[in-house]
Amino acid sequence: MTIITTRLLRYLSIRNLASHSIDIYIRLVLQPIWRRQGVTLGGGISWLGRPILTLAPKSTMSIGDDCLICSRSEQTALGVNHPVVLRTLRPGAVLSLGRGVRMSGTTVCAAQHVVIGDRCVIGSNVTIADTDFHSLDPQVRSSVDDLAGAGSRPVHIGNDVFIGSGSYILKGATVGDCAVIGAASVVTQAVEAGAIVAGNPARDVRGPSRETRPQGETAAGGKQEVEST
Ligand SMILES: CC(C)(COP(=O)(O)OP(=O)(O)OC[C@H]1O[C@@H](n2cnc3c(N)ncnc32)[C@H](O)[C@@H]1OP(=O)(O)O)[C@@H](O)C(=O)NCCC(=O)NCCS
Repeated sequence: MTIITTRLLRYLSIRNLASHSIDIYIRLVLQPIWRRQGVTLGGGISWLGRPILTLAPKSTMSIGDDCLICSRSEQTALGVNHPVVLRTLRPGAVLSLGRGVRMSGTTVCAAQHVVIGDRCVIGSNVTIADTDFHSLDPQVRSSVDDLAGAGSRPVHIGNDVFIGSGSYILKGATVGDCAVIGAASVVTQAVEAGAIVAGNPARDVRGPSRETRPQGETAAGGKQEVEST
């Protein structure tokens, strides 16, 4: 028993040591490299695990003060499928995270313009992208102009938005302040400030309560399958 406990403690301390070393490496080595590459980093950013940041030439990326960027399953309740990925894809692209944004295992890709406001909470494994990445035209798709020919529209996410785990926020989406996006939703259009939306495509789920709406109607105003007896 004692041997098992000793081995477990040793294993855990080695793991902790490895995590701490990565965190120190990020702070001392990667942060200065990212800054030199043109990333603007605010103060007090917490990096939990090593994220992936890449910049296209002449593009800009900024991460506000006090953001929490989690790429390590041990440090977030749901765990992450992959590290946080922040990328600008084309010259002139802008990717901006406001102050106090918290994200885990999130991917944000900007070919044009992706802006995320202050204090947003972005659940595990969310994807936010302002481009389709590939052209819809098969000839362009098999050429070097594939990304340049892909559909692309800016994404704007306001302040204090909560995005549920596994959601996709796609090109042209705008999300107003304080809106909530349900887990596994797909957002392609405008979400009003303060709205609660969910599903694919994401729709308002805060309609009349179950008790007051007509039988068989869903919160989004659709019809529910009612089992016949
Ligand atoms: C969107 C959310 C906040 C709504 O919670 P709520 O206000 O308590 O809403 P309810 O659970 O009462 O559901 C209201 C309606 O929305 C629907 N709904 C809720 N979440 C949904 C979702 N993610 N996708 C599709 N429909 C959803 C419900 O089925 C219900 O519809 P009905 O009334 O027609 O049956 C919540 O369901 C959610 O998705 N939370 C995100 C959790 C998460 O990912 N956390 C991140 C951790 S890292």
